[in-house]
Amino acid sequence: MTTLASRLQAIRSHRAVNNPFYDAWTSKRFTGEQLRVFAANYGSWVRSFPDSLAALVQATSDIEAKVEYSKTLHSELGYGNPTKAHSVLLDAFLIALAKRLGVEDDVRQALAGSGALPSTQALIDGELRLYGHADRRLAVGAQLALEWQAYTMLRKLYEGARNYAQLWQDEDEFHEDCEYFYAHIGAAEKDHKVESLRGAEKYMSREGDLDHVLAGYDEHLTLIADLWFGIADKAGVYRH
Ligand SMILES: [Fe+2]
Repeated sequence: MTTLASRLQAIRSHRAVNNPFYDAWTSKRFTGEQLRVFAANYGSWVRSFPDSLAALVQATSDIEAKVEYSKTLHSELGYGNPTKAHSVLLDAFLIALAKRLGVEDDVRQALAGSGALPSTQALIDGELRLYGHADRRLAVGAQLALEWQAYTMLRKLYEGARNYAQLWQDEDEFHEDCEYFYAHIGAAEKDHKVESLRGAEKYMSREGDLDHVLAGYDEHLTLIADLWFGIADKAGVYRH
């Protein structure tokens, strides 16, 4: 019998968290152009995420689930401090790295919103649609997928970031610029996992509900996998 717990455990082998992008990012340094492709696409998704979460909050009527999702949104927007919003912290890291790879202007332009791939746009649009879906079981399943892949995602992104640490003259400064990763690898993502599970449990009281939750879960994970395969392809990480 498929249980939610067994599916959440199996996420470790899903292509959303095991893919050629992560393999390349964690094993070697990217060129400036490869960094630009990563920044344009991952940056777009991260920037859009609070809007999707707001749709999730808005479409959720159960008060406890609504509160759990609101906590995630509040965290994503820096707990009320705009300089700590996650997209702002990500931009700071990417620009600091771009400076050291000699592609600051290109990466700034990429972060300003140009150059997202169709697979990235499909994820942004699909996430928003799932989170606001009239069948709330699909929405809570989609949010479970996001949060349960997030810790592995941030951990792998941070491991890759460490490949560039020697480019910083001051080691402390490297860690300061890595605040985006530390915000996630710390408490935030562990809390979000629990919050997403509490949110989902509200919609799994009847027989058959789990199938709908898992449909939203699977669809979101596929969209996330497609983001990474799209970036890997465009950046040419297979080539060297
Ligand atoms: Fe975040």
